[in-house]
Amino acid sequence: PGFTVEVLPQVDSTNSELMRRARLGQTEPVLLVAGHQSAGRGRLGRQWQSRPGDSLTFSLGLLLRPSDWAGLSLAVGVCLAEALHPEVRLKWPNDLWLADRKLGGILIETASSPGADPGAAARYAVVGVGINLAQQPAAGLSTPPAALRELLPAADAPAALLAVAEPLVRTLQAFETFGFAPFQARFNARDVLCERAVVLSDGTAGTAHGVSETGALLVHTAHGMHAVTSSEVSVRPS
Ligand code: BTN
Repeated sequence: PGFTVEVLPQVDSTNSELMRRARLGQTEPVLLVAGHQSAGRGRLGRQWQSRPGDSLTFSLGLLLRPSDWAGLSLAVGVCLAEALHPEVRLKWPNDLWLADRKLGGILIETASSPGADPGAAARYAVVGVGINLAQQPAAGLSTPPAALRELLPAADAPAALLAVAEPLVRTLQAFETFGFAPFQARFNARDVLCERAVVLSDGTAGTAHGVSETGALLVHTAHGMHAVTSSEVSVRPS
């Protein structure tokens, strides 16, 4: 479908802005790009900070009606990684990584809205994407983040957006129809955790073995194979 592209020089958060609009019934497909975010948000209540010009920050909002929402953020990660560069990898559940450092992140929020067709399982999905273009100060982070210019020295926000926007819309359409299944092998081909020792947030240690057909992380622990869903735990390489 067609979508409007809107650029705001500054906003608190492109996700927050589209969620506010959805609550007012504005559920047209829109891609909202921010020159700068004053209160960018990450997963698990974290902040997403970036200096103006140093990152691509946008959210795509549209009504979606998948049969199962599980795996959507992983499918988006696959799409972004493939659209950006062969060396971009994925750290479950939805970080973009370059070697052992974070390159970008995805924050998906959904709203039921007065604009959604009544009775349908459609929700307004706000797919927020932040990609570091240039090195950011590593303040407070254990590992300094990666930047797309390490791979593509000429990368800027318009070029990166042009590379990912169409594939992203097509990915959401494919996910709506086929679910996560077509993305499983493509995720596993770029999975940074594959065959690595990991620790779950409850302290359980194990070895990661890729993702299942629903996008759960398969972790072999002393108690057998666990299918870990992102709502349950976070995971870190040990
Ligand atoms: C994460 O790494 O935890 C997710 C980061 C997502 C950041 C993007 S930037 C555009 C959009 N607006 C936000 O406030 N967050 C997302």
